[in-house]
Order: sequence, then C-alpha cells, then structure tokens
Amino acid sequence: MGTSGAAPAPALTDAELKLLQALIYQECGMHFDERRTHFLQDRLLRRLKECHVDSFYSYYRLLISDAGKAELAQLLENLTVNETSFFRNRAQLDLFHKYILEDLLRRKQERRDFSLRFWSAGCSTGQEAYTMAMQVADALAYYYMRNPLPVETPSPKPLIPHPWKVEILASDISYSVLRAGQDGTYNENQMASVDYSYRLRYFDKVGDRYAVKKALKEVVHFDFHNLKTEYLPQRNDVIFCRNVMMYFDEAEQKRLIHKFYRCLNPDGYLFVGHAESLLGMTEEFQMVHRNSGTAYQRIEVRP
Ligand SMILES: C[S@@+](CC[C@H](N)C(=O)[O-])C[C@H]1O[C@@H](n2cnc3c(N)ncnc32)[C@H](O)[C@@H]1O
Repeated sequence: MGTSGAAPAPALTDAELKLLQALIYQECGMHFDERRTHFLQDRLLRRLKECHVDSFYSYYRLLISDAGKAELAQLLENLTVNETSFFRNRAQLDLFHKYILEDLLRRKQERRDFSLRFWSAGCSTGQEAYTMAMQVADALAYYYMRNPLPVETPSPKPLIPHPWKVEILASDISYSVLRAGQDGTYNENQMASVDYSYRLRYFDKVGDRYAVKKALKEVVHFDFHNLKTEYLPQRNDVIFCRNVMMYFDEAEQKRLIHKFYRCLNPDGYLFVGHAESLLGMTEEFQMVHRNSGTAYQRIEVRP
C-alpha cells in the first residue's frame, strides 16, 4: 500500500503559541485571545508551509532572526483583517461632515490658519481616506458657497480652494493594502456604497473599474505606520482609527488613545469604530454625539 504524500501538519504546543502570541503583540499590538487562536494557528501554518519550516518553534526562531525581518512583515500582513468600505458608518460620517468639518473650518478661518490635516490610521485599501477627502472637498465648496471669498476664484474651480491646504494621510501596517489604496481603483462591489453623485464627481470609469480622480488622489498620501510604535504623525485635526483597536488588548488600546491625544492639534477629534469606545479608557477626550454619530474631542486644560 502506498502512503499519502503530504506530511502531517506540525502540532502547535502551548509554549510555542505563547511565544508567537507575545512576539506578534510586541510587534504590532494585535492580541489573539482564545476566540482567535484558531485563526492565528491557521495563518501561522500557511506561513510555515510557505517557508518550508517543519515546526512552529523553528518558525519563531526564523522570525526573531535578522534574516527573518521580511517574513515577519509577511506574517503580519497575513494576520490583519482588511475589511473596509466607502462611507462606512454613515451616522458618524454625517457628524464629521456636517458638524466637525464645519466647526474646524470656522475656527481655522478665524485664526487665519488655512491648513487641514486628517489621518486615516489603519486605512486598509483606502476607502476611508477617500471618503474623508470627498467630504472635505464638499464641505469646503459648501462653506464658500455661503461665505464667498473676497477674491475671484479661477475657473474651473480647484478641488481645494485657495488658500486652503488639505493633507490626508492614509497609513497601514500592510504594504499590499497600501499599494491598493495608492492605486485607487475599485470594482463595482466595492463601489456599492458610493452614490451616483459622488461617482460622477470623484471617479472616472476605466474599463470595469472606477478610478479615483487625480485631483482627489492628490489630497491623499499613503504611508506605512505601525501604530505600535511611538513615532506617529503629529499635528492632525482629525484622526480616524476605526475597526483597528478592536484587535488590540485593553492595555494597548489605552496606550494608543494616549498617543492619539498627542498626535492631535488642540480641540482635535478622534473617530473610532462603532464596536469600539473610549468610555472608561481615558480622561483626555470627551464624547461628541449627534444623531447617532459619535466622535471624541481632545479636552484642553485652559488657563
Ligand atoms: C478592519 S481594517 C479597518 C479599515 C478602516 N479603518 C475601516 O474602518 O473601514 C483594519 C486595518 O488596520 C490595520 N492594522 C492592524 N494593526 C495595525 C497596526 N499595528 N498599525 C497599523 N495598522 C494596523 C490592518 O492592516 C487593517 O488594514
């Protein structure tokens, strides 16, 4: 009788699991509790096979070696959940569009500070950052419809009216999603939540895909940032970090919330996912709630 060709999958011991969990947590903050151990084991096994390594311990040794840096990045890519969509959580985006942007534009204009910085932290394939860009461009256009500029605006009107400067940073730990976001083309399924007026104004149809128009693309900049590290982008007016912290444990969430506090301008806003909350986690933010949409604003100690 012939034997089957495939070698049995190596077993994952408790000690190996703990070592790998600790390494992943240390590298990116992701925490795999009992409910997610099966997922972790499955993804580890795939990488083991890909690397032709015969035990989880050998794979761990590879990851901590100098030669294993690229493999570590590859493993983290395989562990991230990249689910996202345009206009995700409408109530929250209404709050952003109708209340927070309005407040920001008014405050900044009063101070004659015409710079706006937004950050989509854990941006996945870019839909969140491009949604923000569309809403910012619309908010500026609407603001100037009601408060016309004293100077004549050129025709056609630029997406971002002079003298404003808008920067939207979209960051992630996964290079493959960053590449997709930078590419900025989406299929019909991904466009399901984009209504026709947005499609007409902000996308070109290229074959069977929708490509983000150049002017909108220029506002969004994609970059690698690991939220576990201390050195994160500063001076933001608004940070969106939605559906990212839910993969971290409480200690790491608290550290991240404090880092976001430092990454925001005074009175800046933080948006988290609808299954995430800052309640009981910090004294540095206050909740802003309008029509079912929630965000958190930095609390300032004023003299
Ligand atoms: C579920 S997606 C959320 C996408 C988007 N924010 C949204 O709500 O639609 C989570 C993203 O967080 C990223 N991520 C996970 N851990 C990270 C870390 N330590 N640093 C940066 N990004 C991380 C993942 O790669 C993934 O693309």
